[in-house]
Amino acid sequence: MARIKTLNEFILDRQDDFPFATGELSRLLNDIVIASKIVNREVNKAGLANILGATTNENIQGETQQKLDVYADDHFIAAFKNGGEACAIASEENDDFVAFDNERSKQGKYVVAFDPLDGSSNIDVNVSIGTIFSIYRRKSDLGTLATKEDFLQKGTEQVAAGYIIYGSSTMLVYTTGKGVNGFTLDPSIGEFCLSHPDMKIPVDGKIYSMNEGNLAFCEDGIKDYITYCKEVDKESKRPYSARYIGSMVADIHRNLIKGGIFIYPATSKAKEGKLRLLYECNPMAFIMEQAGGVATTGKKRIMEVDSTGLHQRVPTILGSKNMVNKLLSKL
Ligand code: AHG
Ligand code: MN
Ligand code: MN
Repeated sequence: MARIKTLNEFILDRQDDFPFATGELSRLLNDIVIASKIVNREVNKAGLANILGATTNENIQGETQQKLDVYADDHFIAAFKNGGEACAIASEENDDFVAFDNERSKQGKYVVAFDPLDGSSNIDVNVSIGTIFSIYRRKSDLGTLATKEDFLQKGTEQVAAGYIIYGSSTMLVYTTGKGVNGFTLDPSIGEFCLSHPDMKIPVDGKIYSMNEGNLAFCEDGIKDYITYCKEVDKESKRPYSARYIGSMVADIHRNLIKGGIFIYPATSKAKEGKLRLLYECNPMAFIMEQAGGVATTGKKRIMEVDSTGLHQRVPTILGSKNMVNKLLSKL
């Protein structure tokens, strides 16, 4: 039986993947691991721990915060603050970024943007949810308080990105720009173990993921592509299968493994779509491109979009190269 490789061992083995980091990035990834294990524990017993349901507050998105949104946000922030490698964080659940003002954190080289709990609408119905994270090197001077400009960097500047999916098993999938690797949490030893080395998305697929309830409000090219997916064509094995979970992490993870396309486009109701560039689209685009897929707004590479705000939204098309290119040919 092949010896298991834990995430810690994997990170240390790959230490020289980023020459400029003398262990800080490794420790930062471990901060994420600690927080994800705490969140996983609550997610697994959410129905028992009085942690289901909504709070009475709304986040800046105007969305009612679920109790687990706030729980996850608090624990990830605490892990980053205590870890000392990040000088600041930005999160979906916080209107503004949070600069840590203790002396150790001010020396931190990195900032982290994250969606503490993605797919919140699925919490109470026991459907897979996740956490998404994106790590940048700060632009501001070491020893100072972080600034908003530390976050307003293009996705191409990310040094690492990834997600945790709290599903039938709990997995952590991440990239530092040298491919994508997946780790499954073994509860019996409390370690994430390498289970999906060097993940690559199939160049083609038969799954399309979109909330078709929005279709009437989309541009014609999107409508034409969904019609194309439904036309019978024995050769290309259409119609394809529609699969849409409503948790971006779960939809992307499935398509990453099986092949497919995920579409959350601009609509007449939401001119820039719904998903947020900083802590949803850029990290998922980094993963997707590193796995050999395509990540576009429909007009340009997601990771080339200028970042102008912490909660900026972008139209999002992610997936298998051939499927995305087919959609782009219709726009
Ligand atoms: P979050 O729960 O962090 O707000 O994210 C939800 C997002 C994303 O996970 C998912 O793909 C999308 O919202 C679903 O939106 P619709 O319900 O409008 O389809
Ligand atoms: Mn989300
Ligand atoms: Mn969220």
